[in-house]
Amino acid sequence: MATDTTTETKTVTGTVLVVDDEPSMREMLFIMLKREGYDVVLADCGKTAVEILRRRPIDLLISDIKMPDMSGVDVLRKAKELHRDIVAIMITAFKSTESAVEALRLGAHDYLDKPFDIEKLKAVVRNAFEQRRLRAYHIVGESPQIQRMQERISRVAPTNSTILITGESGTGKELVARAIHGQSKRSARPFIPLNCGALPEALLESELFGHEKGAFTSADSTKSGLVEAAERGTLFLDEISEMSPMMQVKLLRFLQERRFRRVGGTEEKDADVRVIAATNQELAKMVETNDFRRDLFYRVNVINIEVPPLKERQGDILLLAKHFVEKFNKQMGTELKGLSTNAERALETYAWPGNVRELENVIERAVALEDCDMVQSESLDLGDVPGQDRRSAQYATGDPSPEVGRTSEGPERLPESGFVLDQHVQNIEREYLAQALQQAGGVKVRAAGLLGMSFRSFRYYLKKYHLG
Ligand SMILES: Nc1ncnc2c1ncn2[C@@H]1O[C@H](COP(=O)(O)OP(=O)(O)OP(=O)(O)O)[C@@H](O)[C@H]1O
Ligand SMILES: [Mg+2]
Repeated sequence: MATDTTTETKTVTGTVLVVDDEPSMREMLFIMLKREGYDVVLADCGKTAVEILRRRPIDLLISDIKMPDMSGVDVLRKAKELHRDIVAIMITAFKSTESAVEALRLGAHDYLDKPFDIEKLKAVVRNAFEQRRLRAYHIVGESPQIQRMQERISRVAPTNSTILITGESGTGKELVARAIHGQSKRSARPFIPLNCGALPEALLESELFGHEKGAFTSADSTKSGLVEAAERGTLFLDEISEMSPMMQVKLLRFLQERRFRRVGGTEEKDADVRVIAATNQELAKMVETNDFRRDLFYRVNVINIEVPPLKERQGDILLLAKHFVEKFNKQMGTELKGLSTNAERALETYAWPGNVRELENVIERAVALEDCDMVQSESLDLGDVPGQDRRSAQYATGDPSPEVGRTSEGPERLPESGFVLDQHVQNIEREYLAQALQQAGGVKVRAAGLLGMSFRSFRYYLKKYHLG
């Protein structure tokens, strides 16, 4: 995977757009930022900058405020319109605090007075990227429901209370948990997720609390658990409804006393851990049917945050879709502009049973299957919108190439209980990728050809599915 280093460095560091009408300033910033490992794009005036912003994803904007054609503040305003998540640093030669204030009001991260110290600039740039990294957990959405949820998150984040996050699968529960951690006083400490449904009871206990050497046959050394790893941070217990009755008792005890014992250990240890739990089950109902302990439910459900399903906040669909186009453009090195009107309409009217995750997957597929090496596409096509489109329907049935002829069996029949189409499609995708790779004797370019994908897309998917 060493052939295309541009996309790889891009994901690790980032792209900076420098806008300044003064050549020596541009040159100085170019050299300095390159040396720091960033991709740098230069613009000598506001208009050029806006053109560049329209054409390609930019992570950080560094702009002079006072320029002949267009002020840096206007560039910033435009940049924010085009890339909601852009981070900006403004430079000003005069102490024109008014524009600086205006820039900050528009969401610039910081500003620098010319002449400035290089070390200072480096620190500010690093800090800006750090800010952007933290915002990767930023919750996209402007619907009243999401705004209410955001307010609730800000209110409860600084407390140490245990929180239960509920909501359908794929609505963003883990994202919410990370956002809470990020806004808490514990944010500099670890956020440790644990999927309670993924491990059998005995393993779950030792994963959580650790074990002493010899506690069980395979315990050949002492190992600390995730509770210890999360010390002074946040422990995220995902799919808490899946905990066995015995583990429920142990967790209850831990939440009551904030003390624990490693498996096979005798010593009681204190823990300073904030617990956030999540479930897509109706835990209150499980309490009624005795499938979940009532006392534990009360301990966990001190504060409840309900994440609304996507179909109840239609206004967020396109915002999210655009956010994901940007995200995958960046990851795949493509430069797709956006969505066609048809695609927009289809996305907005679809019911999204798999919620935001399904939307993310649909956009990922749409971006990946565009022939990125050739296309300077103005906008995404209807292409891969669920339920609207031939190509995606073929995908879903596992028939990637109808022109070549279908197999006689056709697609697997839908089980009586139904299934999550999106997950199913991903399984099929993975399977065909593996098969193509095998058929092509491991030659990726050929395998990509077998699936009608660009090499770049194919490689992206290999990575995604850990196939090589
Ligand atoms: N409001 C949002 N803004 C941006 N991205 C989002 C939003 N909501 C969800 N996502 C993204 O959608 C995907 C699914 O979200 P997440 O894993 O948090 O869902 P979940 O509710 O935990 O799902 P599950 O119940 O299946 O575990 C993630 O990639 C997440 O980043
Ligand atoms: Mg989850």
